[in-house]
Amino acid sequence: MNPVPETRPGLLAVPDKMPYTQSMLIDRFGRHVTYVRISVTDRCDFRCVYCMAEDMVFVPRAQLLTLEELAIIAQAFTELGVTKIRITGGEPLVRRNVIKLFRDIGQLSGLIELVTTTNGSQLPRMARDLKDAGVRRINISLDSLDPDKFRRITRVGDLNKVLAGIDAAIDAGFELIKINAVVLKNRNHDEVADLVRFASGKGMDISFIEEMPLGVIGDHDRAEAYYSSDQIRTELEKTFTLIPTTESTGGPARYYRIQETGTRVGFISPHSHNFCESCNRVRLTCEGRLLLCLGQEHSVDLRHVVRAHPGNMEKLKQAIRNSMMIKPKGHDFNLQAKPVILRYMNVTGG
Ligand code: GTP
Ligand code: 5AD
Ligand code: SF4
Repeated sequence: MNPVPETRPGLLAVPDKMPYTQSMLIDRFGRHVTYVRISVTDRCDFRCVYCMAEDMVFVPRAQLLTLEELAIIAQAFTELGVTKIRITGGEPLVRRNVIKLFRDIGQLSGLIELVTTTNGSQLPRMARDLKDAGVRRINISLDSLDPDKFRRITRVGDLNKVLAGIDAAIDAGFELIKINAVVLKNRNHDEVADLVRFASGKGMDISFIEEMPLGVIGDHDRAEAYYSSDQIRTELEKTFTLIPTTESTGGPARYYRIQETGTRVGFISPHSHNFCESCNRVRLTCEGRLLLCLGQEHSVDLRHVVRAHPGNMEKLKQAIRNSMMIKPKGHDFNLQAKPVILRYMNVTGG
């Protein structure tokens, strides 16, 4: 076993370390927004059961923001003090010419971190281009190491493609690769230790995520499938020694280190350990709706602003500044009730 390294590159508390005065986006609760998650498409080559209904109707292409519009909005955010941008989806890498957008955003001054969350399937052909475009860290979703279970969770996904994508990302030399696993009781809860072992073996971090009730899905009862971060931790402690750390990426995960391997394990626990108080982020949907909270509907239509005032950066920045007045205090997720938020995660940006 390797000793626990003092520090590993990549896990930087960059947004938190930025002097607060640099962000011009401050909401009514004094929270500074320094992080924007941009969904570039709602389409995906998988159909994960917690994310989508089986028969999803996707947004017509004409309603999507163009790559140019996405780049302009990203620029407006960086001029307002945003230092971290994550490109998400759907599956961001299935959007045509998306690498050009990565390159354009990667060159924005003021941006410290350009990151992405992907299902990994396109990485064999795109990992190197992403790295060259300036992406430093990459999060890859992987819920199971068993091909049949993987297929059942993603409905159509091929585990081998994702494993090849992970290897391509390692070869491309990203500073940090993190696996994201949504844990569902009786679907993959028995694999948490194997997933940690897999991540450790490849020098990656891993985060376990509690499922959130976004959109109506037919496959499983979300309350029944609930498996809490505490249950996962207890399970992992049968095999590993978990040491709490104060490290942060500026995201919602609480991190532990596996003493035996040095691997960081994050827990994203919207139900059991709410993190809204320190929320530093907003989201842009692929249609240009600026969502002020993942779990609420408060939003501003930035597509309307960019199309009504082409080239007018000041109008765009003013709309973004004004949006801070409606950023809600937090989400009210309730797994027992019908989902209140009817937007699916692929539309929202995972
Ligand atoms: P790091 O920069 O690596 O910390 O990433 P992150 O945790 O911000 O991003 P990632 O895309 O890996 O997010 C993982 C998951 O965390 C998402 O898919 C969501 O399930 C959840 N998540 C991220 N942001 C929020 C948030 O603001 N609210 C809630 N409830 N969940 C979130
Ligand atoms: N609850 C929690 N996480 C979700 N994701 C997608 N849908 C949900 C949900 N309902 C996660 C995926 C991936 C990221 C894109 O979003 O697992 O890590
Ligand atoms: Fe696609 Fe990610 Fe949603 Fe799965 S979670 S269907 S990979 S967008």
